[in-house]
Amino acid sequence: MTTRIMGTGSCLPQTVVTNDDLAKIMDTSDEWIRTRTGIRERRLAKEETTSFMCCEAALRALEDAGMSGEEIELIIVGTLTGDYVTPSTACEVQAKIGAKRAVAFDVNAACSGFLFALHIAHAYLQAGIYQNALILGAETLSKIMDWSDRSTCVLFGDGAGAAVLKRDERGVLSFDMGCDGAKGHVLSCKGRPNNNPLVSHPTEPEFVHMDGQEVYKFAVGRVPKSIQSVLAQSGMDAGDISWFVLHQANIRILQSVAKRLGVSEEKFPISLDHCGNISAASVPILLDEMNQKGMLKRGDKIVLSGFGGGLSWGSVLLEW
Ligand code: UT7
Repeated sequence: MTTRIMGTGSCLPQTVVTNDDLAKIMDTSDEWIRTRTGIRERRLAKEETTSFMCCEAALRALEDAGMSGEEIELIIVGTLTGDYVTPSTACEVQAKIGAKRAVAFDVNAACSGFLFALHIAHAYLQAGIYQNALILGAETLSKIMDWSDRSTCVLFGDGAGAAVLKRDERGVLSFDMGCDGAKGHVLSCKGRPNNNPLVSHPTEPEFVHMDGQEVYKFAVGRVPKSIQSVLAQSGMDAGDISWFVLHQANIRILQSVAKRLGVSEEKFPISLDHCGNISAASVPILLDEMNQKGMLKRGDKIVLSGFGGGLSWGSVLLEW
């Protein structure tokens, strides 16, 4: 027995912000953003919260799987931008979708969050502890961006994606997960400083800082190795794979990974052009878009891969 994806769903905020819109409020241009990253526009949240987008995505994934919230036994949300420090986003989802039986918690693995949620859920399902799970990747990254730092804020967007999992005879074939915490400083966002009566700090809000070139080097070096690992574990080569569904950080990273694997770029679907980088939400949103378009056929071999803050990475090879 293994773990199968039974349904997918996603939710993006209503408001579209184009590169030209950003060029009106900061020193950037559509030309720079498009040629360096492939991003044309992104969605930014106004009223939408991380938990709201999660619930919408979850309900769509449940409908796609033909299941109800009451049946779900486990909920894991990959996020670093929940509405609250506590309760977790997963507990908010549990309440709103009526998943009364479910155990619910969040994981923070930044852009690899959906892959970490899938890995954890797979372990629970394989151990026979739960029969099904709802996993999500969701972010409201716009609230932790420094909107005066053009080198990071133009890259990111907001949104949520979800998948319903069940124990099944086909599905997940192999995983490759890893972290390199020693290099974590190249992509960071500080939490609240200690402000108890013994120490007093000014409580300035903290924003995302990224050394883009270091993260780029990490991604183009690590991701092909991680994908090669899941292929080798399953006795396959890149030519056996129908789709490589990668975290959507930069089109140049996707092109570089395709080249290193010796695979056509056409096997690397893209959502970053209209979504930007949505950290943990990138992979499940793209997967849902492909599912809705009918691009995923039963029996297809698919690789999902996430990478980023931590530094962390995770890849899975699965049969659809
Ligand atoms: O989700 C987590 C994973 N994240 C990633 O994988 C991100 C990986 N990194 C990247 O995708 C790229 O490094 C970036 C897209 C972030 C940056 O691209 P780059 O080709 O590495 O550009 P750069 O940082 O070297 O900047 C080149 C120039 C600089 O100007 P000078 O010093 O050459 O005069 C920047 O100041 O571009 C300038 N620049 C901009 N210009 C217009 C930086 N941001 C902007 C901007 N608009 N938004």
